[in-house]
Amino acid sequence: MKINLELLKELEKSIDTVHPEKGKIPIKILGFGEISLVFEFVDDPEGLAYKRIPIFDNLMEVRRHIWAYNEYNRILIEEIGLNLPPYDTAWFKDKEGNIQFYCVQKKILTDSVGNKIIHDVTNKEVNNLIILAMREMKKVWAFNRKNKDFQVGLDGQISNFTVIDYDPNNPKVDENSKLLYLDTSTPMFRKNGVDAMDAELFLKSTPSFLRWLVKAAFLDEVLDRYYDWRLVTIDLIANFYKEQRPELIPGITKDINKFFKEEASEFNIEPITLLEVQKYYKNDKMIWVIFQRARKIDRFIKTKLFHKKYAFYLPGKIER
Ligand SMILES: Nc1ncnc2c1ncn2[C@@H]1O[C@H](COP(=O)(O)OP(=O)(O)OP(=O)(O)O)[C@@H](O)[C@H]1O
Ligand SMILES: [Mg+2]
Repeated sequence: MKINLELLKELEKSIDTVHPEKGKIPIKILGFGEISLVFEFVDDPEGLAYKRIPIFDNLMEVRRHIWAYNEYNRILIEEIGLNLPPYDTAWFKDKEGNIQFYCVQKKILTDSVGNKIIHDVTNKEVNNLIILAMREMKKVWAFNRKNKDFQVGLDGQISNFTVIDYDPNNPKVDENSKLLYLDTSTPMFRKNGVDAMDAELFLKSTPSFLRWLVKAAFLDEVLDRYYDWRLVTIDLIANFYKEQRPELIPGITKDINKFFKEEASEFNIEPITLLEVQKYYKNDKMIWVIFQRARKIDRFIKTKLFHKKYAFYLPGKIER
């Protein structure tokens, strides 16, 4: 992969994490999660997507993360059989000696990302998309069933899947559509219960005044749920509130329960109820709202009171 490290260095010199698209080096935001920012360079002939992850303090942490990231991608492709975009990593030390790290992927057409598609196709096709995503996930949990001492986690939200060869001018998702999985920057696999990734790295994006709380209350819970297919699925369904299509939730839930019964009966997964989805959503929403508010306060303290740099991009108001 041809990564332009010099351009990344230029970008980091002048990046404004409050208005990243307004810096000296023109970039375009492709998407963002609760923690990271995914962008491309405007007019980049290589067509790459960069995910900026400003959480590393030393070489040991970076090396371990690169190893875990590459291994996670390899396992998902070679051992589990998911489709992933070509991937790589890039990093350097900036002038101040801070480590700047990126996960890099081939850029995928923005219109073909799941949370965009669900606004552009029929309800029937949204249901097709969900079942295709469930089939991809089944590959992961079939692997987990076979390998008791080696477990792989996945984030099954619809924004993490894209439809291969999707045509925005003729948007369609049918039984034969093929999915590609995007969200591999948090390497989730465990050998004999030991995480490949240092879970505490997650805390780096948490304001220090909240860390003890997050660690005590959420960290294990948040991480463990990506290894539990039923919880990952509840998360996928509940996310339709945030994606502004809550009216689809009853139909999707019904289809998914049918899928569990007919196509994944060997996993003995209890049917998911609407009440569970609602409760989960309220709880999850609360966690992220608190988290994002605290980060804004933290940014204010660092930048306005102490005139220091704030490493993270904070998304604007997220509709939930
Ligand atoms: N290779 C890519 N090409 C185009 N767009 C992408 C690519 N990778 C990610 N995106 C966009 O960025 C969004 C967020 O990416 P991703 O799912 O990898 O991050 P995330 O893990 O959800 O973020 P966080 O961990 O901070 O919650 C995706 O939903 C998609 O819209
Ligand atoms: Mg994601």
